[in-house]
Amino acid sequence: MTQHRITFHQENGADQEQTLTVSAGIRLDSATLQAGFDLRTHCGGAGTCGKCQLIVNGQKILACRTVIESDLDVIVPGFSLRTGEHHVVIQTDSKSTVCCLPSAVSKGYGVAVDIGTTTLAAELHDFTGKLPTQTAACANPQRKFGDDVMTRIQKIMEKPATLITMQQLVVEAINGMTAELTEKNRITPQNISNMVVAGNTVMQSILFGIDPSSLGESPFHAPVSEFPSRQACEMGLNISGTVETLPIFGGFVGGDIVAGVLTLPLLLSSAAPKFFLDIGTNGEIVLAHSGKLFTAATAAGPAFEGAKIEYGSLAVPGAIDHVDFTNGKVVVSTIENKPPIGLCGSGLLDAVAVLLDQGIILSHGRFADKRSSFELVSAAASGIGEAVVLTQRDIRELQLAAGAIRAGITLLLQENDVLPEQIETFYVAGGFGQSVRLSSARRIGLVPSLPAERFQFCGNASLAGARLVLLDSDNAKGAYQLVQQSHHCELAMHPQFQRVFAESMHLGTVHKSR
Ligand code: FES
Repeated sequence: MTQHRITFHQENGADQEQTLTVSAGIRLDSATLQAGFDLRTHCGGAGTCGKCQLIVNGQKILACRTVIESDLDVIVPGFSLRTGEHHVVIQTDSKSTVCCLPSAVSKGYGVAVDIGTTTLAAELHDFTGKLPTQTAACANPQRKFGDDVMTRIQKIMEKPATLITMQQLVVEAINGMTAELTEKNRITPQNISNMVVAGNTVMQSILFGIDPSSLGESPFHAPVSEFPSRQACEMGLNISGTVETLPIFGGFVGGDIVAGVLTLPLLLSSAAPKFFLDIGTNGEIVLAHSGKLFTAATAAGPAFEGAKIEYGSLAVPGAIDHVDFTNGKVVVSTIENKPPIGLCGSGLLDAVAVLLDQGIILSHGRFADKRSSFELVSAAASGIGEAVVLTQRDIRELQLAAGAIRAGITLLLQENDVLPEQIETFYVAGGFGQSVRLSSARRIGLVPSLPAERFQFCGNASLAGARLVLLDSDNAKGAYQLVQQSHHCELAMHPQFQRVFAESMHLGTVHKSR
């Protein structure tokens, strides 16, 4: 077969040059990955997100849409890389063999794991209390199959063997984190006798090798509701002992949300309604009311993570995380004060809220003067050599994402005859929830217009819930009790959903009850 020589240069990085020889006919995104560059592939190579840009012969091209037919000299722009996302860079040896050890090894350690769609996190606990808790995190390597769970399910539906590949990827990543944590503490992974994992329904299913395809089409049923504990070695995990995970509420509302609710004993402590919202690539919501839990998931999509946004970015150095209007001008701040490279979710929310306040964007989402974009940062001030702009299409994407979450909140409230103003506490979980400016979220109507003191931000509640189960097995029983107290609502099947969703697309709409 004809071979071609591909040379990659990282833009502004003379030491980052890689050359490799590949067979004709393979896609440029695969070759780029082989060369060690972690390209942004939000849409999993469908050619729709525009994030995998490379420069060949002075032209911007999409790596996932380019088949190699000649030798190439390729420039890899910094904005096309997933740089800065790894809190800990984990190298794993996928070929290492894992075997079941007799249970005579120490039972002194356990690991709590959160499998997020974007990021994985693990905590090592010494049950004897001698070692302080240690944490590791890494990017979810399944992202090369797409940034959101729906895209990954589609990949499995198209090619069932992808399930095994995705399972191996997540197992290797967890093994990498446990190896990192144990090495630091001079123990071995086989000293770990118990692992508790929380993740959304799709992530938990893939880890356990269960096909999540039933969630890829209406009526969006979860393939299973419980995941019996398994021997770690059967799953390829390098610890001894067992792996447990949390039960799910239903549909996409998985063990991560059960874990989050478990951390909030006050949620069911009084008759006053309380709300729990986890914002990620899906928006999962829980209404606690009169001793019951009502749950639903909304397909927010990955707009809050910068996908489908013209100058969208993950929350990496240089991403615009906040936008203000000061002395008649738009002023942006960026992560680590680096030159602006694009908008991450909180910056996008701020930009729209600020322009809405100034009357530059109207409540139906159009620019008042019918322009097609608004310049946030000039080419001279940006870190990418061109202006960072907010486009009409970006506003539309935000309306779709926020509208889906808002519609879910509205319907759960309506179904249970609760007025928004009756919500006593509104808990917001997830990394995005921590960085978002509450005033902007309220301004565009993503969350109800409640006083600030009624909001509480809980960070990574999924990991916190997994930790509770790891440290006290009574909490596992508590998790199953929560599921028994819950009622799951499949919003996409709700007769009012389309109408409420259309209404919720308006920016700044007040959440209405019946
Ligand atoms: S356009 Fe190439 S990965 Fe999305």
